Amino acid sequence: MLDYKNPRHILNSDTIKEGQVTWRSPSNIALIKYWGKHGTQLPNNASISFTLSNAYTETTIKYKAKETGLLENNISFFLDGKEKADFQEKLITNFKNLDTIFPFLKQLNLSIHSHNSFPHSAGIASSASSMSALALCLCSMESYFFNSLGNLDEFKKKASYVARLMSGSAARSIYGKIALWGKTPADPNGNNEYAIPYKKYIHEVFKSFHDDILIVKKGKKSVSSRVGHQLMEQNIYAPSRYKEAEKRMSQLIQILKQGDLTGFGKIVEGEALTLHALMMTSTPPYILMEANTLTIIQKIQNFRKVQKLPLYFTLDAGPNLHLLYPDEHRIPIKAFIKNELLAYCEDQFWIEDVVGTGPTQL
Ligand code: DP6
Repeated sequence: MLDYKNPRHILNSDTIKEGQVTWRSPSNIALIKYWGKHGTQLPNNASISFTLSNAYTETTIKYKAKETGLLENNISFFLDGKEKADFQEKLITNFKNLDTIFPFLKQLNLSIHSHNSFPHSAGIASSASSMSALALCLCSMESYFFNSLGNLDEFKKKASYVARLMSGSAARSIYGKIALWGKTPADPNGNNEYAIPYKKYIHEVFKSFHDDILIVKKGKKSVSSRVGHQLMEQNIYAPSRYKEAEKRMSQLIQILKQGDLTGFGKIVEGEALTLHALMMTSTPPYILMEANTLTIIQKIQNFRKVQKLPLYFTLDAGPNLHLLYPDEHRIPIKAFIKNELLAYCEDQFWIEDVVGTGPTQL
């Protein structure tokens, strides 16, 4: 187990200067899904994702010395300039868990400012982008204060570890293109504690893949991912799910190398429907798809059959669809989305995205 506890990372209170740090970090879309965890945010199966580009969070931490007081009082959080008390509470809990990793946080007043490139109400998961941006800011602060984490690989590994503690899927957003998180026989470098950049050969076709996100329903979902993960503990299909995920991971790794689009579609669509089947077989069961989610899925299947074009879908833990396809087919596929699918989206809202290069410090 990695141990990032560092009790010596305490600042000299007399010399703390005001400062700030900003990172932009993208969201990601899992091809093999993380669903079910144990211990301290450790996944029950390995997951792999495309890192996105246009769906991102920008986070700035402004810090200054705190005179006295408790951790609880030193964080304020603003989303698009507006103070958000509910987020603030979540952050305070997250930061408490990071107390031994970044003991200097207790000595500071933190004002955290976040902005998402997509509307907050869009109902797309922002925890991957927001928690990875935050983790990167914290690691930059450590690096600045203590001259540590000078090696970029070490910096990112720690950022991924810290992001994971706040939200599992955020661990993968630290790396561009494709990231892998979790122990798997398919890759000896896979680790449950942090994600790694996927370094094996990737066929050209996947390097410029599109992911257009179709917003079927905006707003908060009825069952959170946190509760969803918990319900996996009692799900009678969980053991076979984890076996299936492992098998699919090794198949997908071959597919990514070979550029086999049909194989890719089978796996990612299978993963999306498995994820939702697990929700429907939880106790209590629940459904996060909407009628329009199913209509769009059927239209995609039909389009593929008739047009013979490689357009595939996947889902996160929600009703919105991610449409995955190679760049060379973007023109007919975008026309199909505009003409036939947007009518089933709330306010015809969609986000056009592509595989991206990962976070940047601003
Ligand atoms: C369905 O990362 O949101 O998007 O670790 O509790 O924050 P926490 O869960 P979270 O779970 C996301 C699960 C998923 C699949 C995936 O991204 O792998």
